[in-house]
Amino acid sequence: MEYSYENNIRDLIVGLDTKVPLSNNKLVTPINFDNAATTPPFISVLQEINNFAPWYSSIHRGTGYKSKISSDIYDNSRNEVLKFLDADPYYYTVIYVKNTTDAINKLSNRLYSKNKRFVVLSTSMEHISNDLPWRDKFRVDYIDVDSFGRLSLKDMEKKLRRYDGDVKLVTISGASNVTGYVNPIHKAAQIAHRYNAKILVDGAQLIPHKKVSMGNPYSIDHIDFIAFSAHKMYAPFGIGVLIGPKEFFDNGEPDYKGGGTVKIVTRDTVIYDDAPEKDEAGTPNIMGVVALLAAIRTLNSIGIENIEYHERTLLKYAIDKLKEIKDIELYCDTENLNDRVAIIPFNLKDMPHETLSSILSCEAGISVRSGCFCAHPYVQRLLKIPEKHIRKYLKYPDSTRPGIVRISFGLYNTIEEIDILINLLKEISQNKNSYMQRYCDENNFKKI
Ligand code: ALA
Repeated sequence: MEYSYENNIRDLIVGLDTKVPLSNNKLVTPINFDNAATTPPFISVLQEINNFAPWYSSIHRGTGYKSKISSDIYDNSRNEVLKFLDADPYYYTVIYVKNTTDAINKLSNRLYSKNKRFVVLSTSMEHISNDLPWRDKFRVDYIDVDSFGRLSLKDMEKKLRRYDGDVKLVTISGASNVTGYVNPIHKAAQIAHRYNAKILVDGAQLIPHKKVSMGNPYSIDHIDFIAFSAHKMYAPFGIGVLIGPKEFFDNGEPDYKGGGTVKIVTRDTVIYDDAPEKDEAGTPNIMGVVALLAAIRTLNSIGIENIEYHERTLLKYAIDKLKEIKDIELYCDTENLNDRVAIIPFNLKDMPHETLSSILSCEAGISVRSGCFCAHPYVQRLLKIPEKHIRKYLKYPDSTRPGIVRISFGLYNTIEEIDILINLLKEISQNKNSYMQRYCDENNFKKI
């Protein structure tokens, strides 16, 4: 069956009609505006898992018929993933990992050199998964963001020039998980390459929403490495992807060692396998791969550009409506919406972020995420939290802290769902005190 935005796009997703209880015990159809955290599965993904299950067997370890079928599906999958990103299969390889965090940790281990402390340039808008893995192995510096929170390529170039050839890697998010800004990854790649640095793109928030091409590996603006997670692309079976030059991974030792990584081992010698097998220790996650491929096929059949158009329409509509609400504070550029995936960070003045997000869930079954979104330094900056307050939070790390409410749309969300959110936000904003009284009561929190 063909799926499109004209008729039945929501039929692609599992669980959209599974009702959830409100605080008054009434059951409602939920609204999921938390797709940046994780997406619900595609029906096609579950179907493919079921279709494949009778053939499921070990990868690269057995000679039985099913093992050969499973291994072939696993091996051939890499080309399909590369094709999804227009990545040259003679140059790049796909390494399967658990998720984006795992991919970035792997690359940080593989780039690490005991002999020289290279510089890694991260940015001030990163998820901490694209910050912490670098801190203990490299000298890390952060490319600045402007007053709206957008990446400054000017500052990137300034820092590359200042480090004078010592920057080994520039690592930037493809799209921010807080503000949704999409970074100009090919422009950034061009600048990084001019200074002999490589570039890694954290593609977790970008890949499900916008067409991404690795570029011609022999052109100056190609992407060297990219990482992403299937659970944010409607395929929740614990698989993630790290793409990079095969030659890079052919060199050096793997970070995780064990079964599947070697050509031969003796008591005193190890000859590691070539990439990508060398970097996939242990029995591979074939179910994850089957799920990922099904998701890629479904995304392709809808058309990534159709998804992008739909989600941008939702973003523009939601921002316009949010701006009309008294006391809404938006932490992003609300005029230029063209370089964005559909993520909106906001607060309602004088209401704690966790209270507002609980009210949305308890009163209307609307799921959002609130807090710092594993991007603490970026959120501290967007909220303009003074240094002395940050020091106080460091002293009492378990205390409640300022944060933001985030809505993030997926390909199946609708204008009608946004209207429900907007009406509730208007109602909350007009009756803030009575909502605060009800929801700041400890007993109510316990129910949530
Ligand atoms: N990184 C995911 C988020 O932003 C989990 O919610």
